[in-house]
Amino acid sequence: MIDGKTKILGVIGDPIEHTFSPAMHNAGLKELGLNYIYLPFHVKPDRLSLAIEGGKSLGIQGLNVTIPHKSNVMKHLDEIDQVASMIGAVNTIQFNYNETNESSNQDNEINVTTKGFNTDGYGCVRAIQEKTSINDKKVTITGAGGAARAVAFQMANSGISELSILNRNVQKAESLASDLRTNLASIDIDINIQAYDLDNLGKELSDSDIFIDTTPIGMYPNVKDKPIASADMMHEDLVVNDIVYTPMETSLIKEAKKANAEVVYGYKMLLYQGIRSFEIWLGCEAPVDVMEKALLDALGI
Ligand SMILES: NC(=O)c1ccc[n+]([C@@H]2O[C@H](COP(=O)([O-])OP(=O)(O)OC[C@H]3O[C@@H](n4cnc5c(N)ncnc54)[C@H](OP(=O)(O)O)[C@@H]3O)[C@@H](O)[C@H]2O)c1
Repeated sequence: MIDGKTKILGVIGDPIEHTFSPAMHNAGLKELGLNYIYLPFHVKPDRLSLAIEGGKSLGIQGLNVTIPHKSNVMKHLDEIDQVASMIGAVNTIQFNYNETNESSNQDNEINVTTKGFNTDGYGCVRAIQEKTSINDKKVTITGAGGAARAVAFQMANSGISELSILNRNVQKAESLASDLRTNLASIDIDINIQAYDLDNLGKELSDSDIFIDTTPIGMYPNVKDKPIASADMMHEDLVVNDIVYTPMETSLIKEAKKANAEVVYGYKMLLYQGIRSFEIWLGCEAPVDVMEKALLDALGI
């Protein structure tokens, strides 16, 4: 029940009406009996700064951030977590309210600070770790956009030994590799860059342990798109993750199953990025099973 003590969490984006996050988070909040509500907020780019300031005035406890605000929101925050700073994008904001009574008239002043995190890469790594250890593994990623950046930084920071990135626009992949090398100079990891084509990808996959497709190929409504890789390019010891989650059985997942590879569905990344956000805001363990069921229901799976 919503009452005078209900606290607010939410998600900001433009558009926002298709978000699955409220279903997942509200189910988790209800399960733990927390007097919170999670709401969608449609925020246009020219209102982003006002939305953050308004959030502070309204006592909002935490926000998720989605397209197109993940990078632009950073300049409106007081502090950025190290991983989010390396990725260059924030998908989770924590609002901290500290009361002080230092003012001369004895009124308590509330000092509000904001901190940005990126939980997208965490979501992908945790989803894959359900199926295999990533330690000392070779990981191949297709795509070099926003999602690839989050996944590549978190993977490179989590104990893998080799990372290959293939992208249609090879300069974009080179720029990502250069950022990885600069920011993770102390980490011993072999990073290779190539233009995406079937020959290059086939060669990389032949000795890879994990394959993550971060391109939108196969995403609804283009479900009949030719998959980024075919069954003959994959082997049965490969773990294949398509981060597209609509539909669940993408054209790539179908090919991976034909090759008897282990598959990781895209919704798992969405689930675990949300789990991590929930835990950052509330400081307690999230009820994963309940939140997963709510997410699958919302996705119609
Ligand atoms: N599961 C989750 O939680 C989750 C989270 C975030 C994103 N996603 C999904 O991930 C996908 C990518 O998101 P994003 O934010 O990274 O997008 P983005 O920044 O636009 O990047 C898309 C990348 O895919 C490549 N690409 C697009 N179409 C291609 C094609 N036909 N052939 C080869 N490469 C192609 C692009 O290559 P160029 O650089 O050459 O253009 C680019 O590197 C979306 O479908 C999104 O819904 C899922």
